[in-house]
Amino acid sequence: MTANGEILQRGEEVFTPAFHFYHRIAIRSGRGNRITDVEGNSYLDWACGLGALNIGHGHPRVVERVQRQIPLFVHTGGVYRNETTVEAAEMLLSVAPEGLERLFFSNSGAEAVEGAIKLARHVSGRQGIIAFGGSFHGRTLGALSLTSSNSRYRERYHPLLPSVFHSPYPYCFRCPFSCRPSGCSMACFAHLEEMLRRYITPGDLAAIIIEPVLGEGGYVPAPAPFLASLRRLCDQHGILLIFDEVQSGMGRCGDWFASQCYGITPDIMAVAKGIASGFPLSAVVARKELMAAWPTWAHGTTFGGNPVSCAASLATMETIRDEGLLQSCRSLGGELMARLEELKGRYPLIGDVRGMGLMIGVELVQGDGSPDAGACERILAECLGMGLVVINCGPERNILRLIPSLTTSDQELEEGVEILSRALDTVADGQGAGRQPPA
Ligand SMILES: Cc1ncc(COP(=O)(O)O)c(C=O)c1O
Repeated sequence: MTANGEILQRGEEVFTPAFHFYHRIAIRSGRGNRITDVEGNSYLDWACGLGALNIGHGHPRVVERVQRQIPLFVHTGGVYRNETTVEAAEMLLSVAPEGLERLFFSNSGAEAVEGAIKLARHVSGRQGIIAFGGSFHGRTLGALSLTSSNSRYRERYHPLLPSVFHSPYPYCFRCPFSCRPSGCSMACFAHLEEMLRRYITPGDLAAIIIEPVLGEGGYVPAPAPFLASLRRLCDQHGILLIFDEVQSGMGRCGDWFASQCYGITPDIMAVAKGIASGFPLSAVVARKELMAAWPTWAHGTTFGGNPVSCAASLATMETIRDEGLLQSCRSLGGELMARLEELKGRYPLIGDVRGMGLMIGVELVQGDGSPDAGACERILAECLGMGLVVINCGPERNILRLIPSLTTSDQELEEGVEILSRALDTVADGQGAGRQPPA
């Protein structure tokens, strides 16, 4: 039997270390919500390939639809059209927020973000963009200019895109303006308005881009009043509102897109990750008149809208619809949040539990409230040792990032929570923090 260590060693001899991997295992198979490593160890997967496997590994409907497509043709490029890609676009638009009626397919989240900002600049004739501090929008140079979840991602890549400004994300647990949710006057929004007075006039601003639920930056749902104020501000000044739903979309937050949970529609949306169950596919989805004003030759791709990825995407969306997985996501998410709140009452190590649907962050803190990255690292390792794959996020890497699939069974939820609670026990004991008796 091949050992994990052997594959890791071979990997080290061929890959750049620039690309970080969370766990030192190599997998042999993935089915449903479990993976098996090359040594035969089985794990419950609560990382879902960085949030791309919203209906788990190798869902039979995805496998069947892809197997039907492959013998027909696997690529068309921009040479001719094909029905599978058209059908996937039709279905994606049918579940997209109302009013977003045209799309452009690409391959990755970063590409979708690039497309969204190109569209916004082109059709508005304006160049400025406001993004939010702590956001992650991708690694290509345009998307990286918006990304600010960690300065390491930007180090030595300057100068980045000019006329990009950042305003603090409404991260209530660590409010950048030291407000408490009870007495919040939305100082973060006032700051954004101030930027329009000091740094860039609305007339120069093409777009404001935001993750409605902050992903890599810490798993923080934006407060609804903040998003509603953003929508009003954009309407008032003709600024395009872009929602980056690369991670929060495709059922992850309990509706097809997080924007629908909030009842707030952007002008442009970037979608990727979960839309094709692990096959590379992304999309810029926008209002019809914006897309109509983007002239031929203004954007393009060779692989975007690949028919095999589109077959996987169709099967993914049909599965979410037919199996009632949006409803499952809401009820599983509610149950998981309740269980985590219970754990928070027992472990002072847990400073905050927040999320939407099955996109949940658990922020670990030291006694003085500062981020506890060490404890987070130890919990990830403990969980892995007990057969649960979990990853972390946040600028200090102190936030457990829980993204189980929408197909998680009640028993799997139970199993995951049990492992997590045993890991918390071990790590809290090791710190002398101990477990608080149940109230
Ligand atoms: C919100 C968001 N936008 C964009 C991206 C970039 O996606 P990709 O890694 O597919 O380029 C990510 C990836 O994590 C993301 O979470």
